[in-house]
Amino acid sequence: MPIYHKQGALPPKRHTQFRKPDGELYSEQLFGTIGFDGMSSLLYHHNRPTMVKEILKSTDVSPKIALEKNIRSLKLVSFNAPAKDDFLEAREPLLVNSDIIIGVAAPRKSLREYFYKNTDADEMLFIHKGTGILRTIFGQIPFEYGDYLIIPRGTIYQIDFDTEDNRILYAESFSPIYTPKRYRNWFGQLLEHSPFCERDYKLPQDLETFTDTDEHLIKVKKQGVMHEMVYIGHPFDVVGWDGYNFPYGFSIHNFEPITGKIHQPPPVHQTFETNAFVICSFVPRLYDYHPLSIPAPYNHSNIDSDEMLYYVDGDFMSRNGVQPGNISLHPAGIPHGPHPGAAERSIGQKGSEELAVMIDTFKPLMVTENAMKLDDGDYYQSWL
Ligand SMILES: [Fe+2]
Repeated sequence: MPIYHKQGALPPKRHTQFRKPDGELYSEQLFGTIGFDGMSSLLYHHNRPTMVKEILKSTDVSPKIALEKNIRSLKLVSFNAPAKDDFLEAREPLLVNSDIIIGVAAPRKSLREYFYKNTDADEMLFIHKGTGILRTIFGQIPFEYGDYLIIPRGTIYQIDFDTEDNRILYAESFSPIYTPKRYRNWFGQLLEHSPFCERDYKLPQDLETFTDTDEHLIKVKKQGVMHEMVYIGHPFDVVGWDGYNFPYGFSIHNFEPITGKIHQPPPVHQTFETNAFVICSFVPRLYDYHPLSIPAPYNHSNIDSDEMLYYVDGDFMSRNGVQPGNISLHPAGIPHGPHPGAAERSIGQKGSEELAVMIDTFKPLMVTENAMKLDDGDYYQSWL
């Protein structure tokens, strides 16, 4: 997150004495994700953040691959993924490679029994259904339908849901998730042609500070293994922090679509980037205004990227027979395009109400056993 933010109490000078009312020192922690070179924050803990009491068990949670080398276009009915009480057990990894795990989750219960930390990956949670509060070591972020939550690796968090009806698209990214570089100036500020600006971000607020020295369980994900670690001291014991590395939210409804006289290519929808994939937002927008324009996209030969599209809402203009919660995968190597009739149908239309999230990966995606259970079977023949 290339803007500065802070919460709570801070000493006037970094790396200097900062004491509790009883005279003891607070414990300072530098929190970055790219050595000492990337964005970082400085946190001040009531207790030392290093007090591991024991490691209860370690469980391999890496995705089970069903199809390692895939050339079949797929449609997955993600709403058929079962709802489960637990936030982590509800996760269904669907499409994966060495850079990313893409999945869906329908957790019923708030995460309150333990804390969670993913040290492998930045997480992107896209909220399709549900409201609540993401509670983190940096503060709280209320969320609702249409929010992206970007959580840097290493962030300890819990999540509260207001009801049991929740649907989430998630991505675990093994490299940091940023806003597109072309929309930022050399100081990091979003430029005037960016389809969103800093004012749209939901920053952590209402920092919670618990000072107990009880035992607390943190489930720590590292190298695809979930380690259950018991710490002494509450993980949310930060009295203050400042810096550039922290979780934040952004609503897809605040994405300002870029439109044109003729069909605009997918990069205009780009919202986030990493060095291995991009995340794009398709939002309600006006169509092209050339008198002979064809608003539907042209066929394209995505030779070098796999394209995953998650349909959120509205009628998706270039596809026949897709419903909210459906996922399409158009694998690299073979061209794809609008469904039969979609190009003609789009001519003369003034706009679209479609809402969708696209993730284009630069390496091919493998298909998991979980995904095969959601596969509708004959999507790859749907252009005949
Ligand atoms: Fe495409």
